[in-house]
Amino acid sequence: MARIPRETVDAVRERTDIAEVIGRHVALARRGRNLVGLCPFHQEKTPSFNVIPDKGIYHCFGCQAGGDVFRFLMTLEGLSFVEAVKELAAPVGITIEERELTVAERKALRQRATAFEVLDAAAGFFEAQLWTSAEGAPAREYLEGRGMTPEQARSARLGWAPSGWSRLIDHLHRQGFDPEVLAEAGVARPRREGGGYYDTLRERVIVPIRDERGRVIAFGGRLLQGEGPKYLNTPETRIYEKSKVLYGLDVARHPIQQRGRVLVVEGYFDVLSLQQAGYGEAVATCGTALTEAHLDRIRRLTRDVVLVMDADEAGLRAAERTLPLFVEAGIQPWRLDLPGGKDPDECLRAEGGAEAFATALERRQPLFEWVVGRKLDAYGDTTMSRERVLDELVPLLAMLESQGRGAVAVTDGRLTRLVANRLALPDDAVVKRVRQLVATGRRPEAEAEPAPEVAWQPSRDAVHLLWLVVHRYDQVADLVARLDPSVLGWVAGEDASEDAQQAVRAALARLVSGEPVATVIEDGADPTMQRVLRAIVARDKLYDEAEAATALAHIVDRMARPRWSARLNQLKGQIARAEASGDSATLLAAMRDKKALHEREKRLDTALRHGDVAQALALVGDPGGSGVPPAG
Ligand code: UTP
Ligand code: MN
Repeated sequence: MARIPRETVDAVRERTDIAEVIGRHVALARRGRNLVGLCPFHQEKTPSFNVIPDKGIYHCFGCQAGGDVFRFLMTLEGLSFVEAVKELAAPVGITIEERELTVAERKALRQRATAFEVLDAAAGFFEAQLWTSAEGAPAREYLEGRGMTPEQARSARLGWAPSGWSRLIDHLHRQGFDPEVLAEAGVARPRREGGGYYDTLRERVIVPIRDERGRVIAFGGRLLQGEGPKYLNTPETRIYEKSKVLYGLDVARHPIQQRGRVLVVEGYFDVLSLQQAGYGEAVATCGTALTEAHLDRIRRLTRDVVLVMDADEAGLRAAERTLPLFVEAGIQPWRLDLPGGKDPDECLRAEGGAEAFATALERRQPLFEWVVGRKLDAYGDTTMSRERVLDELVPLLAMLESQGRGAVAVTDGRLTRLVANRLALPDDAVVKRVRQLVATGRRPEAEAEPAPEVAWQPSRDAVHLLWLVVHRYDQVADLVARLDPSVLGWVAGEDASEDAQQAVRAALARLVSGEPVATVIEDGADPTMQRVLRAIVARDKLYDEAEAATALAHIVDRMARPRWSARLNQLKGQIARAEASGDSATLLAAMRDKKALHEREKRLDTALRHGDVAQALALVGDPGGSGVPPAG
């Protein structure tokens, strides 16, 4: 997918100081060759996040996140690969020359660009209507009445869609945009009869919805008076997928990272009011429930999520539905209840609103606890209803408690106890029930996709072999390159699949050929192999330079031995059968092979004892299934 040549990518990575880049986001302390700090991708109290500057890799032993410096920026800042490379290329004096695009790619790009251009032009039209037209006067008054300053309205690019059926279409047509293009961007719709198009939004205050990079991708329109839904959005398009977009994120990204939390609200104007009140870390969904895609985006910026959602029945159901998503994402969400059931905008604009909001924020409650309370309210606070609430919550609690490191804050049974207390049930019994469910491994349906696990374990020898190639390249690479590949028997451990064996061999071959380990990790196909490699890169010193070659010989010897034994057993079988059947020719040949194998074994032992590595590695080769290979 990358349109940047591999060599350029490697060069940028090579010249970039990964410690410096990561150091801008994570406080790092030196520990041996590595730098360590608190992992930005999961919550932890003791540092397990490692940066290995000379290999250009980071790796967290806690949550297994890791990769090269591009991966870091992609994960933390949500950049695409190309964006990450570009961002780092300039400072190290490399200009990115993207390869020629294919016709299809160019067409797709142009279409995308056109959609962005159309929407930008449309936003400009709506803005002009708001600020300079007579028709826009009521909208200006409305915004003023909502406490919006002109500066803020301008920076949010608010606008006014005038009445009439084709004002926008006509205006943009004069600028050279065809109605078909407008329709594709969502701002025009085809007429049901008679052909032609009409403006999607009319007589509404316009709220442009921007993507994370600040480009307009859609519009929300608020009715001032008359018939119709209060808010109407332009439809989903190729560049506007509601379930992925968070309104305000372009503005909120830095505040979220700086404050380490995000406020998720329901309305566009809630975001704007919060910004005005100094809560730049606010975002809103675009009239949909919170989705996995939203959380995916959020958790890359912070794990501290404060929800300000309606407290009504629909809000409760939405909260219940969202809870498993949070659990999945390793986030324990908070719920903020504003006095009088107000939304943030109403709260902030009321008398003493700023203080009221600050107090409510301080008193935020775990969403889980809030859900318990709401359920009790709904079912009535009887023994039976408490049992019912518990029945409903146990699967979720089990999911939380079995979540592992991603959700440290909730894994030690604390939340279960909290829920038990809230339900006035004996907490030991509840904890036991939850633990039982965890132990029986019955996982709630919501957790269809389990967290990625290490699918196989490389053998200890394989780990050491890879470590040597990564960290003692000069001492061992040539030796490994000359090895008979078949001696590297079960590199991924005896019980690993053939795919796993293949993954280890492939990685080994690439490393030996001199490919940077960061490339092997980032372009590798097997996720387990990538994790294993990162851990190896981050791993403390195993062997000195002086002992590297000898260590290699012993490792290879151990890897090869099972095949020697197998061959020996095979020969013994042949001998026994040949003796029984009186086949003296076979008997002699087998006995000769067996003797040669023994002799070779003795020479190998001697070579190993004397540290004659080259000799040992030559001898260790395939014991063969048909005759003994030539001695080294
Ligand atoms: P609300 O109905 O809670 O309104 O809609 P609000 O944000 O308080 O609006 P104001 O303050 O009266 O202007 C919250 C969000 O739900 C979506 C919009 O995204 C809105 O911002 N919504 C609401 C719709 O999509 N359509 C509607 O008809 C109403
Ligand atoms: Mn409101």
